[in-house]
Amino acid sequence: MTKETILSCSTITKNFKSEAGDGELNILQGVDLQVKQAEIAAIVGSSGSGKSTLLHILGGLDRPTSGDVFWHGESIYTHKADKLAELRNVNVGFVFQFHHLLPEFTALENVMMPALIKEDRFSVAEKRATELLNRFGMAERLHHRPSQLSGGEQQRVSMARALTNNPSILLADEPTGNLDEKNTDTILNLLFQLRETEDVAIVLITHENEIAEKCDTLYTLQNGVLELNENGA
Ligand SMILES: Nc1ncnc2c1ncn2[C@@H]1O[C@H](COP(=O)(O)OP(=O)(O)OP(=O)(O)O)[C@@H](O)[C@H]1O
Ligand SMILES: [Mg+2]
Repeated sequence: MTKETILSCSTITKNFKSEAGDGELNILQGVDLQVKQAEIAAIVGSSGSGKSTLLHILGGLDRPTSGDVFWHGESIYTHKADKLAELRNVNVGFVFQFHHLLPEFTALENVMMPALIKEDRFSVAEKRATELLNRFGMAERLHHRPSQLSGGEQQRVSMARALTNNPSILLADEPTGNLDEKNTDTILNLLFQLRETEDVAIVLITHENEIAEKCDTLYTLQNGVLELNENGA
């Protein structure tokens, strides 16, 4: 059975004003990408090449200068901001390098949040969040606040939060960038399991070639465009 294209973009460009304000930085210069159901696509590239910028654009967080992003074949930037935010909450999960958990809420509450925003019933959100946290080995940490969790645990909470609404797209920006080897392995194993269990399409930004080479497809972002490497797994 052919797999559906879940996420794609065509000829994305992104320019920023340069510091002096008299010129432009042309960070993305025509990026094309297609990610299919249950595919893990890795993006590598030097610091400042535009990886995070691209991920934000793919996730509906930042409008491109030109070009289009599609979720399930639907152009997303044609929607008004509030509709786009609503679509993003149900279609896309983000995992960032630093967890961005809400400090005043517990692990469980943080993971429930996307479901509550979607106006799921409290009991439904609580059940789903508890299941996810249990699955990620966090059963004994449900009521800890982020400051009471280790870095690896915080990252597992943030992965659980990204999955609360069963997104079809998971965007991860160096999710292991801050972790030691053991925690890196745990997070990566979880990512690869997710592809099996949730059929989610994953775009993973990483600095580490060893990780990138395990993914289905491997791209390098260079000179503002994505190049497909032939040595993806
Ligand atoms: N809002 C902004 N305004 C101006 N310039 C920006 C803005 N956001 C990013 N840039 C510039 O765009 C370039 C790409 O930034 P980006 O964060 O996407 O890089 P990256 O590939 O993710 O780097 P790293 O590997 O260090 O995280 C950088 O040179 C950065 O200074
Ligand atoms: Mg970055």
